[in-house]
Amino acid sequence: LENGLARTPPMGWLSWERFRCNTDCEGDPDNCISENLFRTMADLVVSEGYAALGYEYINVDDCWLEKSRGPRGELVADRKRFPRGMRSLSDYVHSKGLKFGIYEDYGNYTCAGYPGIIGYGRSDAQQFADWNVDYVKLDGCYSLPLDMDHGYPEFGRQLNRTGRQMVYSCSWPVYQIYAGINPNYSSIIEHCNLWRNYDDIQDSWASLETIIDYYGNNQDVIVPNAGPGHWNDPDMVTSHSIVQHFRCLMFFLRQLIIGNFGLSYEQSKTQFALWAIMAAPLLMSVDLRTIRPEFKAILQNQKIIAVDQDPLGIQGRRIYKHKGIEIWSRPITPIYQTYYSYAVAFVNRRTDGTPSDVAVTLRELGLQSPTGYRVEDLYEDVNYGVLSPNTKIKVKVNPSGVVILSAHVQPERITRTTY
Ligand code: DGJ
Repeated sequence: LENGLARTPPMGWLSWERFRCNTDCEGDPDNCISENLFRTMADLVVSEGYAALGYEYINVDDCWLEKSRGPRGELVADRKRFPRGMRSLSDYVHSKGLKFGIYEDYGNYTCAGYPGIIGYGRSDAQQFADWNVDYVKLDGCYSLPLDMDHGYPEFGRQLNRTGRQMVYSCSWPVYQIYAGINPNYSSIIEHCNLWRNYDDIQDSWASLETIIDYYGNNQDVIVPNAGPGHWNDPDMVTSHSIVQHFRCLMFFLRQLIIGNFGLSYEQSKTQFALWAIMAAPLLMSVDLRTIRPEFKAILQNQKIIAVDQDPLGIQGRRIYKHKGIEIWSRPITPIYQTYYSYAVAFVNRRTDGTPSDVAVTLRELGLQSPTGYRVEDLYEDVNYGVLSPNTKIKVKVNPSGVVILSAHVQPERITRTTY
């Protein structure tokens, strides 16, 4: 969608994967979907340094609404959990220098059973604009997937009519694919800033693997659709093995620290690297109060964020898959003559529980510039120097882990080689 927004994939925080539809604010006040949760996460996005690295949207997902609309048909935020209302939350998020995102559903109900927008598109769009919303995720439960070809563009026009610029995140293709319909991607590109193609992510390696496979196996259809203003969305960046604090009554509410290992450290690194290769939105669904430092470091890896946010906006591809080893590659800046630079990720999906060596020449990876490439490891502090296309590089990839390199094309012919 050419509305001037999302020129690079949106970055921020989104509640769903981590906090779901937890509405139990009496029993679980710290984790329920409430204005306090979003205020706290906005605070932490700034104070813990995420905002400075580009994370800017604080996005509400499902379960923020009252079960029915107000007397004039207006949307009403849950009165107990959002007592100050959405405009106040939006103002708070903006006061932190961040942007505010909201969730609705194209159908009769949201997936969790709250009011959807059908029949109210125009007034709901206006309400979002009045609340100074910057980003709208429009889900697709309780609707007819065939109607989406008309309904999603229509709501986009209604957003546009308000005069307020809002990122428009669609679930249009995923629901059509479920229904056996081939999505009309040229229309989706025209009307949405980003869109979900596949299943919801869960905090598990099994879920992550199905997503990686979907984007790899369908890349010929999917990859060409990405670019500045319009992105494929493989879903949130998941929980990264957070530390949970449990209150222990016997010790007078002292906190115990217990790990929650949905994704291991290696697997979290793999997700972040592949999301960057895929030019994916980086929407963390993580408890920022309790995240461990090593997982925070993954989310704050500036070199990988720079790959994700590369201005060319070309989504990467899986270029090799054999016996559990995959290589993914994405063209990035700078370009010299006709030669791109690249980010290259080596993934080990073998189940033997031992690191695997992968050896390959730059030329075999498609890196052919006679001027050579400056090659650097983006997680480890290793700089390989300037390498010619014939140089063989060898990486050791941990089980379910990744090695991600950048190879920046050099502007001058190599005078002194390192091979
Ligand atoms: C389905 C979506 O794919 C999820 O991301 C989330 O928004 C839930 N619906 C909410 O009900």
